[in-house]
Amino acid sequence: MIRIAAVGDVHVDKDVLGRYRPALEQLPAVADALLIAGDLTRHGTVEEAKCMATEFGDVGVPVVVVLGNHDHQSDQQDAVTAVLRDAGITVLEGDTTVLELHGHRLGIAGVKGFGGGFAGACASKFGEREMKNFVGTTETIAERLGAALRGLECDALVALTHYSPVPETLVGEPLEIYPFLGSYLLGQAIDSAPTALALHGHAHHGSERGRTPGGVPVRNVAHPVIKQAYNVYQLLTDNVDAGLATV
Ligand SMILES: [Fe+2]
Repeated sequence: MIRIAAVGDVHVDKDVLGRYRPALEQLPAVADALLIAGDLTRHGTVEEAKCMATEFGDVGVPVVVVLGNHDHQSDQQDAVTAVLRDAGITVLEGDTTVLELHGHRLGIAGVKGFGGGFAGACASKFGEREMKNFVGTTETIAERLGAALRGLECDALVALTHYSPVPETLVGEPLEIYPFLGSYLLGQAIDSAPTALALHGHAHHGSERGRTPGGVPVRNVAHPVIKQAYNVYQLLTDNVDAGLATV
């Protein structure tokens, strides 16, 4: 069994410093790794990234993250990524990492993702150049996610995104903004490999649980949704939610 702690949308700045730390001190006792589904900072500044690195660095288990849209706000995403990597945090964007945990290989593929919407109500790559760019951006990201997942040979695969791959975990958000919260293309990418669990954030008013059309469990771990420092999911078991801990 592999135990995955997960949260998203932690939006760390100097005012948040210390808020997660008490729960993080317990992390090695309850989970083998921590995955964070983007929106690590409030406005994507280097100063906030340093706060994030202080809050989520040295927690006693591997920490793997993707960036979110907030982490791009100041156009400093490369510098933000560098600060996090210097703190020992693995930042994924279209690539993968493999963790050896209790003799099992956990493969994680991560992308920020992007919008576009879901079956029956999605943007199409037609018309203005801006619309083609919008949909094309999501297509490229989804292709990278799918290729990354399919390239992993592991005992368990996890897809980590900021944007949602399914509409079920957006329930609670206004329908009108679903196309800005995720894309079915991410779901198709997840279904193109034997993915065990998909984690995302971004939808603060959404719902925790969904499933891709191919049957992969999807969990929206945005902090305002799970309402605690992290949830713990179990892989290589029958029920990913069996280990949900209150922290
Ligand atoms: Fe977001």
